[in-house]
Amino acid sequence: MLNTFFSPWPSFSAEEAEAVKQVLLSNRVNYWTGQECREFECEFAGWCGSDYAVALGNGTQALELALHALGVGPGDEVITTPRTFIASASSIVMVGAKAVFADVDLNSGNITAESITAVLTARTKAVIVVHLYGQCAEMERIIALCRKFGKPLVEDAAEALGARDHGRPAGSMGDLAFFSFNGNKIITTSGGGMLLSHRGDLLERARYLSAQAREPVRHYEHKEIGYNYRMSNVLAGLGLSQFADLQRRIQARRRHFEGYATAFAGLEGIAMMPLVRPDEANYWLSCVTLSAGASMRDRVIAALEAEDIEARPLWKPLHLQPVFRDRVCYGGGLAETLFEQGICLPSGSGMSESERGRVIHLVAGLLSQGGNL
Ligand SMILES: Cc1ncc(COP(=O)(O)O)c(C=O)c1O
Repeated sequence: MLNTFFSPWPSFSAEEAEAVKQVLLSNRVNYWTGQECREFECEFAGWCGSDYAVALGNGTQALELALHALGVGPGDEVITTPRTFIASASSIVMVGAKAVFADVDLNSGNITAESITAVLTARTKAVIVVHLYGQCAEMERIIALCRKFGKPLVEDAAEALGARDHGRPAGSMGDLAFFSFNGNKIITTSGGGMLLSHRGDLLERARYLSAQAREPVRHYEHKEIGYNYRMSNVLAGLGLSQFADLQRRIQARRRHFEGYATAFAGLEGIAMMPLVRPDEANYWLSCVTLSAGASMRDRVIAALEAEDIEARPLWKPLHLQPVFRDRVCYGGGLAETLFEQGICLPSGSGMSESERGRVIHLVAGLLSQGGNL
């Protein structure tokens, strides 16, 4: 299958396999005994211009710890986007707080200072901004708003490694920020996450909770209940190796986006999802919208699937998910429109030009026949 995210298998190089082998041969496979986790944290913090980082089991754990570090709990509200993977909001539920959904704008596909303002209350304990599909939200205005009202800001940069906002790296702008190294991300440790902060107090609190809240004494001493959320040293070895390849991967994905954009430019009924500042996106996924809506979206996905090519609808808004049926999204219903019309096309860093050509041929052929192949 010409997979949306991984295309084509395998996506691990001989160097990356060697990096894993070296950690295994060193016998230092857990967070505590090896040096790779610490190196991975340092590289990440340095690269993001952040002061502190902790390598974790996945991005979901990173967000949960971020919320704990901020003291979010029962009775609190946390504002986020409905247009995201469920982890952006399930972590809010996991700490006992209520997720409040603000609508997105059609340009960036992310929440904005205006949509956050519309739902900000005294109960708001934090704001989680998601840089969806590798494009940053309008951070300057969102940061100013959060500062004005004293609300901590968390960046969900799970999909946005390498993206920037007016020159500032994704992950460097919030009180806390995290990345995901899940198997579908631009670099992967098969599963993994990184939590970052400029604030030592917040990061140290998260670091402490991530390791069973163990007190810093020789024996095992615990005054609180914590979590077992640290990254494996084997995976950090893989992450370090993949990190070195980040820019090549971004460029490869950018070529896919530009190839799709050129091919679809003269076609009616299809448009690339806009990029507000194309030089600052990481091009994680190339997304298009189809003006004919959900039936055309499903026909295109089915036609690609028949050729063993995986494409997916854009994220289904969380307030439309059965698990959040008691929630609304405040705003103009734009997250819903994007879900109805949108498709993530194959975008993997390893996809070839001719594979991309196959996708274009199929999509363009279907559209030019009004969806009836
Ligand atoms: C926007 C977003 N937030 C959070 C996550 C959670 O990260 P993880 O899968 O590493 O737990 C993901 C995806 O994996 C994501 O896409």
